[in-house]
Amino acid sequence: MEFLSGLLSCSLWPLLCTSLCKQYNHIRKLNEHKEILQNELERLKSRGNDINDELNRGRLQHGKNPKNEVTLWLEDWQKLVSAIESMDTKNGNGMCLRGLCPNCYSRLKQSKCVEKLINGVKGLLENGRFSDGLFAASLSENQDGLPATDIHGSTAERKRDEILQCIRDPEVSKIGVYGMGGVGKTTIMTNIYNQLKETREFDIVIWVTFSSFFNLEKLQDMIAKELGCNLSEISRAKMLYAAFRRRRNFLIIFDDMWDKVSLGDVGIPEPNRENRSKIVWTTRSIRICNSMESQREIKVEGLFKEEAWSLFKDKVGGEDVISLEIEPIAKEVAEECGGLPLALITVGRALRKTYQLEVWRSALQELRSSSTDQIEGMEEEVFRRLKFSYNRLSNDKVRECFLYCALYPEDEVIIIDEQLIKLWVAEGLIVEVGSWEREKDKGHAILKELKDACMIESVGEYFVKMHDLIRDLAINITREQPHFIVKARLLLKESPKEEEWAESLERVSLMDNNIETLHGQPNCPRLMTLFLQQNRNLNNISHTFFKHMHNLRVLNLSQTYIESVPDALSDLTNLHALLLGSCHMLKCLPSLAKLHKLRFLDLQRVPLEEVPHGFEYLVQLRYLDISGGERLRSFPSGILSNLTNL
Ligand SMILES: *[C@@H]1O[C@H](CO)[C@@H](O)[C@H](O)[C@H]1NC(C)=O
Ligand SMILES: *[C@@H]1O[C@H](CO)[C@@H](O)[C@H](O)[C@H]1NC(C)=O
Ligand SMILES: *[C@@H]1O[C@H](CO)[C@@H](O)[C@H](O)[C@H]1NC(C)=O
Ligand SMILES: *[C@@H]1O[C@H](CO)[C@@H](O)[C@H](O)[C@H]1NC(C)=O
Ligand SMILES: *[C@@H]1O[C@H](CO)[C@@H](O)[C@H](O)[C@H]1NC(C)=O
Ligand SMILES: *[C@@H]1O[C@H](CO)[C@@H](O)[C@H](O)[C@H]1NC(C)=O
Repeated sequence: MEFLSGLLSCSLWPLLCTSLCKQYNHIRKLNEHKEILQNELERLKSRGNDINDELNRGRLQHGKNPKNEVTLWLEDWQKLVSAIESMDTKNGNGMCLRGLCPNCYSRLKQSKCVEKLINGVKGLLENGRFSDGLFAASLSENQDGLPATDIHGSTAERKRDEILQCIRDPEVSKIGVYGMGGVGKTTIMTNIYNQLKETREFDIVIWVTFSSFFNLEKLQDMIAKELGCNLSEISRAKMLYAAFRRRRNFLIIFDDMWDKVSLGDVGIPEPNRENRSKIVWTTRSIRICNSMESQREIKVEGLFKEEAWSLFKDKVGGEDVISLEIEPIAKEVAEECGGLPLALITVGRALRKTYQLEVWRSALQELRSSSTDQIEGMEEEVFRRLKFSYNRLSNDKVRECFLYCALYPEDEVIIIDEQLIKLWVAEGLIVEVGSWEREKDKGHAILKELKDACMIESVGEYFVKMHDLIRDLAINITREQPHFIVKARLLLKESPKEEEWAESLERVSLMDNNIETLHGQPNCPRLMTLFLQQNRNLNNISHTFFKHMHNLRVLNLSQTYIESVPDALSDLTNLHALLLGSCHMLKCLPSLAKLHKLRFLDLQRVPLEEVPHGFEYLVQLRYLDISGGERLRSFPSGILSNLTNL
């Protein structure tokens, strides 16, 4: 065909002569256009990828849905990108739609076609700004409410009704709900939240989970998202205020407050009687209620003895476990839990299906004896009971897996297969058997034990999360032995000081902060895990930073701004997982030749310019992701064929 058309144009030469110059111009223009198209395409692709990332995060962590226009845009994006990418590059003069450009004449068409595509890409980029946010406004979104656990016992039900009554009382606009950790405040409030969302009594109902730190801007962002408004940098509070005023009224629930918040600073109008707007917060401390000037304080207390007993009995496995012999001791164990649902559930689960009297006796002993060293602080009290459940986990591996989950930020939804289990394998917490399916089964078995013990909660089928108090417990346990640093999502600008990088450290999580520089030369010969991902401005790692971390097995630097990784990486011979996904600036890697143990290598969307040196020696590599790294496409097949475990 090519040959034939070439022949044809030859014989028509005289006729075409005059148009030759034109054609020449077209060819030149075509090449220029193709280059423009390539550049625009790169921009378009990264825009789409960024949007997809954000959508995923919103979906996973907050159950949010994208706006229709965003979904439509992404469909167009997909179509356009794949149309352009499927264009043929093989005939020397570059791209043309498959089979459509056998001769000069069609170059003209091609040029037109490329021009059209450029306009298409530009248009799509233009439409893809979504300055109002990607997610559907809260009126239509979140109708299904928060995942709520059941309220246990009539005490809690009465509390719920009391709070609801307060919320509906026109005289009251600020309500403080307080009580110790684990007593069930959040459970009660999620039930209320879901109910009020459904009844539409309020124009808008907003839920804000505080963590143990407070940041004004973050709080404003969270609220702005719910209101579906756009905050500029300067007058954030004013804009929020205006957005609130556009509503008839509002209900805001602040869950787990630790510090006073000034409504004016945030941009929340003072709730007034006429509009019937309300603010409700939960806190562990009545101090907060006073400083927030609540008009009503409601204390959530533990369950009554009878209720506590019935909840405990239920968790232990019912009547057939509690023989007449065991009953009195079991009752005392339940009493040790002080009416806290969380403690009753976890301790109860720890003793599930225990039929031996001696085990019950020693359990009671254990719960009581640890109480002697408690002096102050309610948390101490709760920890003591929760720690009991931790100690009762079946073995050290399970305990380690449990502690591992605390490396993620508070309230984080953790992906089971893609994150936890993969990392547990990389860490050696799950013994490798070579079959991913079987390893996954083992991981799920561990998770099942943790879930059964209520040490971790399911979020749908694919995710888990930790109750904040249980996470606190895990962090408390890891202060000494095993020794962790967990400073995840705390808005840190600086990495921990040199002296904090103790020799005894085993795992460190600094994920999702604003750290820009990692300097020094921490001496951490036992360190196995280092989470640095989502420090989006991190771009300066001193070349000695990894020098004394020879035991490192998992390193996640995903979503950082690094342009290179220090050469010391080459000597981390114990590395099992190297995760660099979405490091958009990373162009090259030091030699990987000595990383014989590497199992997982994530280079998703990393614009590496060439295959890393020593790649062929990664003989244990089982999982490799290079999608979205355009320049790596031409992976020499010889190299891959030697990596037989992939
Ligand atoms: C949203 O905010 C950005 C700046 O933060 C501004 O450029 C844009 O025009 C705003 N969009 C709307 C609809 O207000
Ligand atoms: C409350 O009522 C006033 C007067 O009717 C109105 O201007 C305001 O926008 C309403 N909403 C809020 C949230 O204050
Ligand atoms: C590494 O961090 C990124 C960014 O948070 C995350 O998406 C990815 O799942 C992490 N990798 C693993 C294996 O946990
Ligand atoms: C946590 O652990 C430390 C030392 O291991 C202890 O001093 C502290 O009281 C514990 N409890 C809390 C609530 O931090
Ligand atoms: C990286 O940090 C070090 C020490 O903080 C500083 O001296 C150096 O200039 C920084 N390099 C870059 C490229 O910012
Ligand atoms: C790949 O394997 C073949 C045969 O086992 C071997 O001859 C070759 O040197 C290997 N290539 C690399 C790059 O290791």
